[in-house]
Amino acid sequence: MLPFASSTRHVPSTSDVPRHVAIIMDGNGRWAKKRLLPRIAGHRRGVETVRRVVRMCLERGIEYLTLFAFSSENWRRPAEEVSLLMQLFVRALKVEVGKLDHNGVRLRVIGDLSRFDPELRALIRASEERTERNSRLVLTVAANYGGRWDILQAVNRMRLSGQDSGGAWNEDDLAPHLAMSYAPEPDLFIRTGGEKRISNFLLWQLAYSELHFTDVLWPEFDSAAFEAALESYRLRERRFGRTSEQVAGCPAAAGQLTGLRSDA
Ligand code: IPE
Ligand code: IPE
Ligand code: MG
Repeated sequence: MLPFASSTRHVPSTSDVPRHVAIIMDGNGRWAKKRLLPRIAGHRRGVETVRRVVRMCLERGIEYLTLFAFSSENWRRPAEEVSLLMQLFVRALKVEVGKLDHNGVRLRVIGDLSRFDPELRALIRASEERTERNSRLVLTVAANYGGRWDILQAVNRMRLSGQDSGGAWNEDDLAPHLAMSYAPEPDLFIRTGGEKRISNFLLWQLAYSELHFTDVLWPEFDSAAFEAALESYRLRERRFGRTSEQVAGCPAAAGQLTGLRSDA
């Protein structure tokens, strides 16, 4: 049994504040380039933004924050940048885990970790274990993550689970094997840096998320930019396939509209 309803199987209950925010942290390289700095300087600044965003989520009572840190396609970058990013990840984990723990944050890392070196894998495991009893905010870092990888690994695990498909698998069979089955689907997706694409992030889980794209580069993503994203979310009408009238819970109005249409 999944702890959270699927947005395609049921209509989830929602509120003005998103429970789960998922972010593609993009624009570090361009931030550095504008300042004639090496790209890694942008990534370093990006870690400071992570700290800021975690704090803002804690202040606003957001329960789940998911950050795309390294995609399964980011290995295509120059070897030096990949290696510096890994070092930065190790350092950030070492420095931040104590503070996260102190603030009641549970850290989880999703992605294919088998490609990381043993030191990083051990550090990830230790950080997850150290914070596993925390529940104020679940911070998920997606590292060597790809949405297609996630769906495929879930299919493979589902097949190996020995569960009987009864002829055909369904959503409820697959969903528990996805990497983030412990969290509700993201309510709000944010991508910084101006690109309007998903870049193989949470393909399954973003089915009904509200999408917010901003030109602000990740190192400059501040409380005003976060507030703008939350405000834009507040103004959305989340219909999940229904009509506006149904969402407003006003069946009479819905009936009138149907009547108008059949009269026409
Ligand atoms: C995002 O910033 C961080 C990672 C992908 C690791 P980028 O490095 O993609 O920055 P831009 O897009 O080149 O500006
Ligand atoms: C997406 O950013 C991945 C992360 C932020 C980790 P990219 O910069 O790699 O995405 P593309 O290549 O522009 O689509
Ligand atoms: Mg980028």
